[in-house]
Amino acid sequence: MIKIAPSILAADCSELGNAVRAAESWGADMIHFDVMDGHFVPDISFGPNSLAAVKKHTSLPVDVHLMVENPSDWVKPFVDAGADIITFHVEADRHVHRTLQSIKDSGIKAGVVLNPATALNELQYVIDSCDMILLMSVNPGWGGQQFIPAVLDKIRGLKQMVKARGLNPDIEVDGGVNTQTAKQCVEAGANVLVAGSAVFHAIDPASVIASMRRP
Ligand code: DX5
Ligand code: ZN
Repeated sequence: MIKIAPSILAADCSELGNAVRAAESWGADMIHFDVMDGHFVPDISFGPNSLAAVKKHTSLPVDVHLMVENPSDWVKPFVDAGADIITFHVEADRHVHRTLQSIKDSGIKAGVVLNPATALNELQYVIDSCDMILLMSVNPGWGGQQFIPAVLDKIRGLKQMVKARGLNPDIEVDGGVNTQTAKQCVEAGANVLVAGSAVFHAIDPASVIASMRRP
């Protein structure tokens, strides 16, 4: 089943409670929560307090995407704030396996994220510990960027890799996903689609979510 994860980075920041309630009413499967630290990426977004506040307004699982240096420092604060899954960038962590274990030991799901230029090889020795792999289809840092088509090959490669190993992690794609690129991502093997602008800036977000789910 295809799952749609609206990114509240594209919502009105003064109304995050309304944004997640609306996303739920539009048929979202989870909420994508982008954390930026001003170091790993240039901008700063939300912290654990914002997550705790958002969690009061939704029963959907919240998928926390850490775009931060030293992600292991942020596992406990985001677990305590109610994260249901935490993904972090392999480019930002020298101890990827250990961080995955610490997320899982906290009792929630864990995954890693690869930037567009990072090879699938990085997953070789950690893929069996991942509940989800997130492939960036833009360079992280901002919403509203253009989808990078080269990631489609990478999705296909990842799908083959997990199949060959008898694994079945969620394959999530993030950045520039709209109704057209969603179709390409799903055909390539993705099953979780993050969408910020395409959902929150739409005239009819519910129909955008429905058409992304059935491309
Ligand atoms: C980008 C973030 C994305 C972003 C996606 O760095 O990780 O989750 O919100 O936004 P759109 O869907 O507008 O590209
Ligand atoms: Zn994201």
